[in-house]
Amino acid sequence: MAVALIVAAGRGERLGSGRPKALVTLAGRPMLAWSIEALRNVAAVSEIVIALPAGELGAAPAGTVAVAGGTTRSESVREALHASAGGDPVIVHDAARPLARPALFERALADLEQYACDAAIAAAPVADTIKQVADDGRTVQSTLDRARLWAVQTPQVFRRSALEGALAAPPELLAAATDDAWLIERAGGVVRVVQSDPGNLKVTTLTDLHVAELLLRERGG
Ligand code: CTP
Ligand code: MG
Repeated sequence: MAVALIVAAGRGERLGSGRPKALVTLAGRPMLAWSIEALRNVAAVSEIVIALPAGELGAAPAGTVAVAGGTTRSESVREALHASAGGDPVIVHDAARPLARPALFERALADLEQYACDAAIAAAPVADTIKQVADDGRTVQSTLDRARLWAVQTPQVFRRSALEGALAAPPELLAAATDDAWLIERAGGVVRVVQSDPGNLKVTTLTDLHVAELLLRERGG
């Protein structure tokens, strides 16, 4: 059976609401509740572990496991993994992505099972043209081939041994990692993208919060 780790221990500084972002009210409930509900509708998930700010462990609902997160996202993932009973594969999901649907988790799990890979990660094809600039930060050096660019999201699904190995990286690498799959790539592991869409947005700013609110209300949630 799979274990799901929800990382919700961030401070939400860019949102600036004065409280942990995962606990901010979104379409009538705490942002975190949307991810928990989605994961409760994924049949393969037998355990949900939530990394929370140390003073907020009471925010985890009954039937989930709460653990204090770390100072970086990767440390929060590691703390949650250690607190889990041992499920394999491991789903890692950001509480900051409240719009992820059960079907996306299921497709990531199915791809991990079907293909010879260490991780299967939700990602959306990039719609913008992306240019790379020189060291001066302004002069355009090249235009990247958009057909091969994907904007990475969560959920990210891992074979447990691969994630454990990745999270054993030195602290400075863990601190530099903006996603867990990067740690697997660095170590030569095979990571596959699972097609998602931009609707699985990450709430970072107040604008994102407003868009997420509209989309969730439109769903009738
Ligand atoms: N996260 C975490 N532990 C940390 C940092 C982040 O569990 N030490 C989680 C956040 O709660 C969020 C996800 O990782 O669900 C993605 O991080 P981000 O969007 O950066 O959220 P915050 O760190 O809360 O926001 P900010 O960077 O604006 O403070
Ligand atoms: Mg952050």
